[in-house]
Amino acid sequence: MPAIVLIGAQWGDEGKGKATDLLGSRVDYVVKFNGGNNAGHTVVVGDKKYALHLLPSGILTPGVTPVIANGVVVDVEVLFHELEALGSRGVDVSRLLVSANAHVITAYHRTIDKVTERFLGKRQIGTTGRGIGPAYADKINRVGIRIQDLFDEGILRQKVEGALDLKNHILVKVYNRRAIEAEQVVDDLLSYTERLRPMVADTSLVLDRALRDGKTVLFEGGQATMLDVDHGTYPFVTSSNATSGGAATGSGVAPNRIDRVIAVVKAYTTRVGAGPFPTELFDESGEYLRSKGFEFGTTTGRPRRTGWYDAPIARYTARINGVTDFVLTKLDVLTGLPTIPVCVAYEVDGVRVDEVPVSQSDFHHAVPVYEEFEGWTEDITGVRTFDELPAAAQRYVLALEEMSGSRISAIGVGPGRDAIVTRHDLLE
Ligand code: GDP
Ligand code: IMO
Ligand code: MG
Repeated sequence: MPAIVLIGAQWGDEGKGKATDLLGSRVDYVVKFNGGNNAGHTVVVGDKKYALHLLPSGILTPGVTPVIANGVVVDVEVLFHELEALGSRGVDVSRLLVSANAHVITAYHRTIDKVTERFLGKRQIGTTGRGIGPAYADKINRVGIRIQDLFDEGILRQKVEGALDLKNHILVKVYNRRAIEAEQVVDDLLSYTERLRPMVADTSLVLDRALRDGKTVLFEGGQATMLDVDHGTYPFVTSSNATSGGAATGSGVAPNRIDRVIAVVKAYTTRVGAGPFPTELFDESGEYLRSKGFEFGTTTGRPRRTGWYDAPIARYTARINGVTDFVLTKLDVLTGLPTIPVCVAYEVDGVRVDEVPVSQSDFHHAVPVYEEFEGWTEDITGVRTFDELPAAAQRYVLALEEMSGSRISAIGVGPGRDAIVTRHDLLE
């Protein structure tokens, strides 16, 4: 005890990396349970900035054991690249554990991700191109390669050949690309096995023992609720379960062991890639949020789409994930706006709806119903207690809390590690 899940409430990039880092010194294990190097977490520590993709953000805290659990898809080349980059900056990466059951992203997954996106043309998802979807598709199709397969050359060869059999027909005949040599893929993967060996573990067992020993385990979600393959804006989603339930299946720790669910939510909304986004702004306010909030993807550098806070989405997130606490980030970005609209409901075909519509076509043309809140002009980046916030900022936070379905326990007022206002202890 305790086990805490931390997830994104919107479409990603809410500041999960910073929130994980914030809890860092109080947790013993940080577990990545879904996604892969499609994630991009920027963590600012003093004057140092770290961009993490595959590795959980907890790796930056000395003494924490980072875990890549079974639900993750691992690009082994990226794994070692990130480990080396962090190691050369003095971060201790020696404790990392990788589940033997995690699936592997290979060169053919990256290729297929890119060619299918190109093939979709106007209908493309806008993926990160990291091979995430094709690797999960192989997992579900039962032709995936797991970390443990890298330790049995015969099995690995058989599985790669099996997986490439059909794929090469498709690559050559449909996409007009060169076939991928199984031999090359196998050799590439085998080149990592010796370095990988000491990290590989039965991470479900390790985490069970840790919890029994009274350790604190934080499950750090990648992506977010609205990008979840079951509960997000399908098909404009990622290919894993980014919601709190994914922490159980993605780690082999039972759901009834989880004590708290923290959702990180931005004080406005952003999205990268295609798909519905009711509060999206196309005017100068949208540009203001993008430039002031520095809303450019950590992974692909793409400008993020921006819009106002969407309370029905926050309520949906609270329900789907069983949120106990929200961490509201980037409140400082709103400083200087005379008024701040918040979406409190939608209108669909002229009818007011208070919940996220279950039908995608309804969600696509849902028109936000806005309530306007008064803005503030005072710089809040140095504020550390709720009472010090300008009255209008306090009212904004309390209004969001009222309409979002759970308490707001911490508020981000700047990118730095300590730029946070704590209202309730996140671990109790
Ligand atoms: P993640 O994917 O959820 O970890 O989020 P990203 O790292 O992709 O994007 C969040 C960005 O916002 C990062 O650049 C953070 O440094 C920054 N950030 C986080 N919290 C705050 C905050 O309260 N205020 C400001 N101004 N920036 C923040
Ligand atoms: P973090 O963890 C924002 C989006 C992509 C695309 C869709 C599918 O930093 O919040 P994929 O490559 O996963 O198949 O792409 O999901 N996406 C993200 N958007 N933040 C992320 O991660 C994302 N990971 C994937 O832009 O729309
Ligand atoms: Mg991100």
